[in-house]
Amino acid sequence: MKTVQLNDKTFEIYIPQNEIEKRIDVLSQEIVNDIGDTTPVFISVLNGAFLFTSEIIKRFPYNCEVDFLKISSYVGTTSSGNVSLTTNSIKASLENRNIVVLEDIIDTGLTIKSLLNDLSTYSPKKISIATLLFKPDVFKFKNEIEINYIGFDIANDFVVGYGLDYNGLGRNLLDIYKLKPL
Ligand code: XMP
Ligand code: MG
Repeated sequence: MKTVQLNDKTFEIYIPQNEIEKRIDVLSQEIVNDIGDTTPVFISVLNGAFLFTSEIIKRFPYNCEVDFLKISSYVGTTSSGNVSLTTNSIKASLENRNIVVLEDIIDTGLTIKSLLNDLSTYSPKKISIATLLFKPDVFKFKNEIEINYIGFDIANDFVVGYGLDYNGLGRNLLDIYKLKPL
């Protein structure tokens, strides 16, 4: 089993790069079909979503805008429950626009909930959510928030790679890894 060591923790391979890319091909085609040539605004949630964002954007054939927000609710390997908006610098005008939020992972859903509250104040036409990874067992807003595009449903494991980090490390790994059980 392929493993990597990041500081004090060992991670084992979970989703290989070729599966991630095949899945992104499918997701991006769904997004293209649904949104079409409407000049959407993609909003990428940094830091983790930068690689996923670039793969989705590369596959979007029409005009679009791309903007970035820096948010985090994680400290170490658990969700802190406190969402901190560290940058709020959206330049695009969002009124009456199709917005597609791009997330690396939706866990409890606290981050996306707070972001949706924020974005809805700009009177967009529609807000869709695309996430590479989703943890259905811990998501708190099942009846409230629809996640439109999901790459992979995963168990409640801490994962790294493909943009996701442990204490800042692991974002450059091309495969996704999960914390190795002790
Ligand atoms: P919530 O709980 O607000 O969490 O949905 C979403 C944010 O927390 C980070 N997160 C993770 N980061 N491995 C990571 O590297 C994980 O397993 C993980 N789970 C959540 C992530 O930044 C996400 O946007
Ligand atoms: Mg994130």
